[in-house]
Amino acid sequence: MRGRYLWRRGRMLLLAVAACLVIQAEFPPSVWDGIYTEAQAQRGQAAYARYCASCHGAKLEGTIDAPTLVGSDFTDDWDLTALGDIADEMQISMPANRPGVLSEDTNAAILAYILKANRFPAGSKELPAGADPLRGVVFATRRFGQPESPTSVAVLPQSVRGLR
Ligand code: HEC
Repeated sequence: MRGRYLWRRGRMLLLAVAACLVIQAEFPPSVWDGIYTEAQAQRGQAAYARYCASCHGAKLEGTIDAPTLVGSDFTDDWDLTALGDIADEMQISMPANRPGVLSEDTNAAILAYILKANRFPAGSKELPAGADPLRGVVFATRRFGQPESPTSVAVLPQSVRGLR
């Protein structure tokens, strides 16, 4: 009796895992997938305070000199773009008074901190340095829920970016 029950439970679990795999395969990786670590975000916070806060505010709230990096004013702006685009913007144009002085590693940590501040979940792997590994990662204000248009989501980053 018990063996049969366990077998049924085991089968249910297998089905659930298979369903998850199928669902995951339909969506590109995104900022919801736990793509940075807590420790990395903490390093990023320190670097942010040093290199970015003077313009973007101690709490990323923005100042008269620079836009906010937290909340919907920021996230809506980048919704459905490639995370690599934000990494590029940081690497190429920030800090605006000394563009490009920070290493890709430091910028990855700062980006991790920005993700954390915007309540995207941390995970067990660090955000990779440089924009290239982030070109296929989607910045999205909402988790992908409906499998209606995974391809358009994957293609959108460039086209949406062009509208900004
Ligand atoms: C000297 C002031 C200054 C400093 C320091 C500075 N920024 Fe900026 N930042 C700006 C301004 C001004 C803009 C808006 C530029 C634009 O829209 O073209 C901006 C825009 C941005 C954007 C794009 C925001 C959006 O909504 O599109 C990001 C991301 C960003 N900064 C990150 C950083 C990071 C990370 C640092 C620290 C490494 C930093 N900035 C340091 C002035 C600054």
